[in-house]
Amino acid sequence: MRGKDFFREMETIAAPIAKATYDSVRDTYSDMNDDQKFRFLAQFWYIEAPTIANFSRAWWNAVPRDTTGKYRDVEMFLARQLYDESRHGKLYADACIRKGYVKSEDELWTHPYTRPVPGWLNFANWLEHLGNYHFTTLYGGEQMASECLTFPKFLEGAIDAIDDPVVRWAFEAQTEEEAFHGMTGRYVVTKYCQTAHQQDEAAWAAQTTWRLLAEASVDLAKFVMDGQTVERPPIAAHPAVSPPAKRVPRTLDHSDEESAKDAAEIAES
Ligand SMILES: [Fe+2]
Ligand SMILES: [Fe+2]
Repeated sequence: MRGKDFFREMETIAAPIAKATYDSVRDTYSDMNDDQKFRFLAQFWYIEAPTIANFSRAWWNAVPRDTTGKYRDVEMFLARQLYDESRHGKLYADACIRKGYVKSEDELWTHPYTRPVPGWLNFANWLEHLGNYHFTTLYGGEQMASECLTFPKFLEGAIDAIDDPVVRWAFEAQTEEEAFHGMTGRYVVTKYCQTAHQQDEAAWAAQTTWRLLAEASVDLAKFVMDGQTVERPPIAAHPAVSPPAKRVPRTLDHSDEESAKDAAEIAES
């Protein structure tokens, strides 16, 4: 199908996800205390400053080198986006400073609240991983699936939910740039994602983004609102660290009954 029709198909799939995103963000973050606001800003700072604006330099790999200017539009979109995302990191950092949570952005790099919770780390690394594919898959999975079709609803939910003007402004101040990133997703998919193979891979990327984003929101909400990270089983119970029931000497061949019996005897002694 044409890239334009593929985009429309993805838009239809995303509509209920976008609505659910808005509802859950609005409900979850409507009444935060200072510690919760700091956690919220810190996790978002993480995905902008160290992740998208730094590690996602791998996204350039998704755009084939072409000295004839064939992909100049995509190159200019990407250059602009990476600048914007760096600035968004600054917006979150500024909000943390104005609220008195930290004295300077430097503190955020090593602060425990900016350590990504597992679902958030998964999502962040997935975005970086998308740089290993052709740019139609990157733009299908990130700029289209996230920034065009679902993330605006996240921002809208956050803006409607958060009373504190300093925290809310950090989200408000990004909406137009995020809309632009979303527009680049629609443009690139419509123009370049034309073959069945490209669309198949872009659809997989989009579905993966939505799934990981949903899982990330659960972990984020637990961390921000309940002050919890994701619960893990106690370390001694983990199969990788619990001692084996019985130590058996390593032998090359247990086929012979006699040697198996010997091994058992040695083990018991
Ligand atoms: Fe951003
Ligand atoms: Fe963005």
